[in-house]
Amino acid sequence: MLFKEIIKKKRDGFKLTEEEIRETIKKYVDEEIPDYQMAALLMAIYFQGMTHRETLHLTDAMLKSGETVNISIDGTIVDKHSTGGIGDKVSFIIAPVLAELGLPAVLLSGRALGFTGGTADKMESTGMKVTLNEKEIEDVVKRFGFSISCQTEKIAPADRKIYALRDATSTVESIPLIVSSILSKKLCVNTQGIVFDVKVGSGAFMKTMEESEKLAEGLVNVSKLYGKKAGAAITDMNQPLGRTAGNAIEIIESLNALSGDISNDLLEVVTTLTGILFKIIEKGSFKEGKEKAESIILSGKALNRFCEWIEYLGGTTKLQLGKRRILVKSDKEGYITEINGETLGFLIIEMGGGRKRSGEKIDHSVGLRFFKKIGNYVKRGEVIGEIIYNQGDETVFVNRFLSAFKIEKSKPESVKLIKKLIY
Ligand code: URA
Repeated sequence: MLFKEIIKKKRDGFKLTEEEIRETIKKYVDEEIPDYQMAALLMAIYFQGMTHRETLHLTDAMLKSGETVNISIDGTIVDKHSTGGIGDKVSFIIAPVLAELGLPAVLLSGRALGFTGGTADKMESTGMKVTLNEKEIEDVVKRFGFSISCQTEKIAPADRKIYALRDATSTVESIPLIVSSILSKKLCVNTQGIVFDVKVGSGAFMKTMEESEKLAEGLVNVSKLYGKKAGAAITDMNQPLGRTAGNAIEIIESLNALSGDISNDLLEVVTTLTGILFKIIEKGSFKEGKEKAESIILSGKALNRFCEWIEYLGGTTKLQLGKRRILVKSDKEGYITEINGETLGFLIIEMGGGRKRSGEKIDHSVGLRFFKKIGNYVKRGEVIGEIIYNQGDETVFVNRFLSAFKIEKSKPESVKLIKKLIY
């Protein structure tokens, strides 16, 4: 079939076959289909959508454009994926905890995307090696019971090419395109169970429950069609998760969290995701998984494993933060009703802790500390946070930080952190 017939078929709302999708991806990667035609197809998908089965074929074709990762180890290999947010350091807590529970965890993580932080960048703040090949991942999992490493260039190259085109054609915000993009970089590992943490709110890509539910259902259903056990939690991102946001500063918070000094919200997300994994791979009930994870975290049992993992890969746990500090004082009195994560994410980028352009070098030592959460009452002049930086305009940073906080007279309804479980 001529490629323009495939564009027309999708434009008119028909389903594409496995063969048509496979041919499209292969020819696009081989540069037999030009960008302008692929862009037209992406826009047709944006408006007409795709069924979960079409999304499965798209994921599979993108996944097969690159390498797969096959880890040989006893036990049920599991994975956790977050759709990204501000202060999200869940991977650093859950991976060693799962290892402690006898579940080998293999996570392939990305770099910062848009205003959200990236697990691989946070790891790099320790100086550790973040890009591992299949053999190295297997060695690390065998030693520590878990591995977190960066997605390599060889994983799903079709996704990189398509993502750049989506970015240039305003077709990023399409559920089947997001699902296939994420899963092409996840299902390439021979994991058996995978749990998705789909974030919703001002500090996430998905701003509404409706969008995040569609994304969570897409991720879970397509993973199941692929033969994996899968589940998801939709979790709140209307304020940063935990006490800090940045790179080195989030590793420091993770070290504290694994020693038992953990914020309630971070503990709740980690234990909920562990509960879901227990249930989906039939290791136990949701409650059992949740309780076991909590007991490991609070006892500090997984801390050594985490430190030794960083050191084995050449990193340090003695991290340096930026030289300059400003305590931010509230300019109003009242209840905190909103802490906008997107504003804070862009502030971190402005301070040098994130990238304005891909490939840019970042300053791992800058970051933010949060002393208050939504619902707290603050007085004018009370300290609500801290900015840690090396260079730039202090006044601009403070004003940005304050602009993320909405402070009002009336007490807001309490925030529901875990909004929905899907398994
Ligand atoms: N993350 C991805 O990897 N791909 C998307 O399309 C969106 C978020």
